[in-house]
Amino acid sequence: MHFRQLRQSVGTMTGYLRVQRAICCFTRFYDLLTEERPLMAIERTLSIIKPDAVAKNVIGKIYSRFETNGLKIIASRMAWLSPQEAGEFYGVHKERPFYKDLVAFMTSGPVMIQVLEGEDAIAKNRDLMGATDPKKAAPGTIRADFAASIDANAVHGSDGPDTAKVEIAFFFPAMNVYSGR
Ligand code: CMP
Repeated sequence: MHFRQLRQSVGTMTGYLRVQRAICCFTRFYDLLTEERPLMAIERTLSIIKPDAVAKNVIGKIYSRFETNGLKIIASRMAWLSPQEAGEFYGVHKERPFYKDLVAFMTSGPVMIQVLEGEDAIAKNRDLMGATDPKKAAPGTIRADFAASIDANAVHGSDGPDTAKVEIAFFFPAMNVYSGR
């Protein structure tokens, strides 16, 4: 084979490899664009900073955890709940043995109530809060860091989309909830 022929064949091979690489890159890019990713819903959830955490002066620290984890505070107000309000809010627990103590605790001082908005806000807030019983809460969660007992457990958060809707409406008329988006 002449040198010129050899150079031509090598040139053709190189060109062929380049085209192949370009096709490969394009396919990968197309796959990335069309890949099915789980869609995260933008949700709202109700959060209450309970009397123990308000008394410890950690509202700002708890707000900072919401904000640094992608949750926006889109409504907030401080309140000192009456026994009627706390009793009605926790009405689902009426038959539970801890109901009376829960209402007494929730009316023992002011609370900070807020609506949080963000991707997967309900589960995200519950992850940030940690287990109901602070002794079982994972390190770094709000309850592990700021709560003392299952009654004085620093924060409340809605446990599902239906509850969130009812709980938000319990404390905030729609006109006082401001979407952060
Ligand atoms: P919270 O998320 O506000 O919802 C109901 C509250 O009841 C809960 O946090 C606790 O503070 C309180 N509580 C007290 N005892 C229990 C219990 N055994 N199980 C669940 N909640 C309890």
